Amino acid sequence: MLTTIIYRSHISDDVPIKTLPAMVDKASKLNASHQVTGILLFNGTHFFQILEGPEAGVLEIYNNICADKRHHNVVELMRDYSPSRRFGNAGMELFDLRHHDRSSVLQAVLDKGTSRFQLTYDDRGLQFLRTFVESREKENYFEVPPVEYWDFIADQTSTPETLQNHPDVTFHPVIDPLGRQVTAIEAIATVDLAALAEGTEKYQASLAAVCQAFTQAGRACPDGMPLYVSILPMTLVVIPDAVNIIVEEIHRADLVPEQVIIGVSETEVISQLEAFSTAVRQLKEAGISLSIDNFGDGSAGLSMLTRIQPDRIRIDAGIIRDVHRSGPRQAVVQAIIKCCSALEITVIAAGIERPEEWMWLEAAGVINFQGRLFTRTGAAVAWPELRDAI
Ligand SMILES: Cc1cc2nc3c(=O)[nH]c(=O)nc-3n(C[C@H](O)[C@H](O)[C@H](O)COP(=O)(O)O)c2cc1C
Repeated sequence: MLTTIIYRSHISDDVPIKTLPAMVDKASKLNASHQVTGILLFNGTHFFQILEGPEAGVLEIYNNICADKRHHNVVELMRDYSPSRRFGNAGMELFDLRHHDRSSVLQAVLDKGTSRFQLTYDDRGLQFLRTFVESREKENYFEVPPVEYWDFIADQTSTPETLQNHPDVTFHPVIDPLGRQVTAIEAIATVDLAALAEGTEKYQASLAAVCQAFTQAGRACPDGMPLYVSILPMTLVVIPDAVNIIVEEIHRADLVPEQVIIGVSETEVISQLEAFSTAVRQLKEAGISLSIDNFGDGSAGLSMLTRIQPDRIRIDAGIIRDVHRSGPRQAVVQAIIKCCSALEITVIAAGIERPEEWMWLEAAGVINFQGRLFTRTGAAVAWPELRDAI
């Protein structure tokens, strides 16, 4: 299968530019032995490369390229399949954009085209190429510093001892890592709702879990701390008086409704949006905030925002995984951030596991985070600290 991979990257500081032609020479020979063709653009700081060929060969070479220390911040922009090669002649050809003006380099690149059909700008690969040549996306190139820049130091004083290792309810802080602040606490009762069959019993169990979370949070959480509790959204529709029961439990636990954020998963809301909207009005009337969780996991996230606007959203961990390496994920996350900023909705990035994911999201404007990177032991936070020696 003929595969195309397009990526961009940042040249490493210690690489003399005069070594590039030799690198390209060697790469060109290696490409030829794998029947891989393509072109490489360089603008003095960034590389942009199109690789085309049989899938196995392209992947082998791309994996080598990703591991190459001569560049970093490799972001895959496109991975696609096509009937014919765009650039079939060259094993690899380098265009140094500093030595051409924009229009002549575009023409020079197009002249290398070998597609059976004329290369046109309808082609996504060429659109990426033109965007790079014209530097149109540069404001979205976030330079993530190397992982070694940071230590994550556990701080037992970050959350009260009562939140760490509770038997029935687990507590997960939402943090602003650079501000070194816990901005909310999520309380999750350890009940396996997924094991229950669909129906009223499941929703009763969901409501009971929420009430249990309130009881323990009331004892353990610092006064006034925003408190996240998740519920199956249909609980609010199926169980009569569910919102009133929730409000009563909040008061019984010595909490106040204004500090409570009820989280519901996007995937479950969209099946019965109408009925759910009524429940949301009741929650809001009681002073409780709404968060849409796993945002981006379902199919209707953005259209749902035209119907109900939550106070917060939590971006799905699946979208965030390796966001620093994926152009499509970056585009989706940036669209979510822009949309939420226009609607004054707070964005939380959940499920952070790698320093690069967190650093990319900080650069994109996210402030609130959750995930194992920051909470490896119980609810104690491991704050990022810059290493001195680097
Ligand atoms: C920006 C950039 C583009 C590269 N493009 C290719 C390429 O198209 N083909 C290739 O075989 N190596 C390419 N390389 C070099 C590979 O990373 C790697 O060095 C090469 O595959 C040989 O592997 P080796 O150094 O382990 O022998 C590129 C390196 C950089 C920094």
